Amino acid sequence: MDKDQIVRRTAEHVKEKMLGEGTGHDWWHVYRVWQNAKRIARYEKGSDLYIVQLGALLHDISDWKFSGDENSGALESRKWLEKLDVDPGTIEKVCHIVKNVSFRGARTRNRMRGREGLIVQDADRLDALGAIGIARAFAYGGKKGRPLYDPSVKPVLHGSFAAYKNGGTHTINHFYEKLLLLREMMNTTGGKRLAKERDAYMRGYLKRFYAEWNGKA
Ligand code: ADP
Ligand code: NI
Repeated sequence: MDKDQIVRRTAEHVKEKMLGEGTGHDWWHVYRVWQNAKRIARYEKGSDLYIVQLGALLHDISDWKFSGDENSGALESRKWLEKLDVDPGTIEKVCHIVKNVSFRGARTRNRMRGREGLIVQDADRLDALGAIGIARAFAYGGKKGRPLYDPSVKPVLHGSFAAYKNGGTHTINHFYEKLLLLREMMNTTGGKRLAKERDAYMRGYLKRFYAEWNGKA
């Protein structure tokens, strides 16, 4: 199988597995991340588009948020790529991406290494921002049974992955605990530019949200 076929087969496999998911981690999230990753990679000289695409397609294949296990995504990716006879060097790189793509808390260090991984991480973060980011945050909060907002419960900047994982409150807090921090955390030139625009849109949205909440609009 050539590289294009491997990418195509992987896309079909992920689509089949993730199509109906209800928290904004469905196939269409993966599809957007895939497209954004290709878009960002165009401006990142020397990045390997094959690794970028496989990393983007597999990045949420078995997310810790749903499996409860941090390693399950990389394990499942490895199994799939071995089945397709992908070379071991590529498998290592893709598994590193899947394992390290996720946000782990505001005061934690990014463990992602390699140009391709930094591109995929930016593409994933972009889908957490802007109009789609807002929709995904409330979809996720709804699935977890969380309120939209509670003015008495303040956001926390988590210092560890464990604290972040267990610390979810109402969905407006998620903007302060993650989404509004992403603009400053972007890795690539293209990612930074796109994040800035989406960040501004979300800040405008929050202003309006509070105005309506307080009977001022
Ligand atoms: P990451 O791996 O960085 O968490 P994902 O692509 O798996 O990125 O999905 C992250 C998205 O899931 C967030 O941008 C948000 O839309 C949603 N999400 C995760 N945690 C929460 C939360 N506590 N409240 C609301 N939405 C959340
Ligand atoms: Ni994702």
